[in-house]
Amino acid sequence: MEGGGGATLEKERLSEFVPPTSLEANRLKKSSWGVLFTGIVGGTLVAVYAVATPFITPALRRICLPFVPATTKQIENVVKMLQCRRGPLVDIGSGDGRVVIAAAKEGFTAVGYELNPWLVWYSRYRAWREGVQASARFYISDLWKVTFSQYSNVVIFGVPQMMAQLEKKLELELKDDARVIACRFPFPHWTPAQVTGEGLDTVWAYDARSFRGRDRRP
Ligand SMILES: C[S@@+](CC[C@H](N)C(=O)[O-])C[C@H]1O[C@@H](n2cnc3c(N)ncnc32)[C@H](O)[C@@H]1O
Repeated sequence: MEGGGGATLEKERLSEFVPPTSLEANRLKKSSWGVLFTGIVGGTLVAVYAVATPFITPALRRICLPFVPATTKQIENVVKMLQCRRGPLVDIGSGDGRVVIAAAKEGFTAVGYELNPWLVWYSRYRAWREGVQASARFYISDLWKVTFSQYSNVVIFGVPQMMAQLEKKLELELKDDARVIACRFPFPHWTPAQVTGEGLDTVWAYDARSFRGRDRRP
């Protein structure tokens, strides 16, 4: 008897069910497209923001050091200045890793410090693709918070506004046998041991012995 009652109840429920009109169905369809569209636009905006922010924030810092990659000629000039050099190398603000990778290919154990995480991840990928991942390392770091004392070869492609401050930092930190190579913008007080290239590709090499101790400025 109970089974029969249940079936009747079910029938009643079904008869109460009113299928959505085509207008309502359309409305439902539209609102799900709306949710999907909002999700896609929102997701895209978040992704663009996440990628673009590390490239834009350097412009807001006290010293604006944007990502401008070294030219092929500039890298050739850096490599020239490294002839007969040994020991670990650092590129301060390593961008997309091209200087570090070029140095690793020349046999150096090379390290890059870079603030922009996307560039660091991309540099690691490039180093792996070029087969130098064992001798080319990249770290997400603020150059002003890193101590460079362990490096015998230091490369910097900076901006004029930072060179005096970096000069002081390197004078304090580097050992006497270190060499500093500046790309595009020279250091304001040091005397270069060598200069090569011209225009935007000019590269200056400074030997620490000359700027530490005897030649140290007041
Ligand atoms: C002019 S680019 C040079 C890139 C690379 N060294 C080259 O020669 O191709 C300077 C780099 O320094 C990075 N940078 C800016 N401020 C920094 C900071 N405080 N610490 C570490 N890297 C920084 C920028 O993101 C940019 O990639």
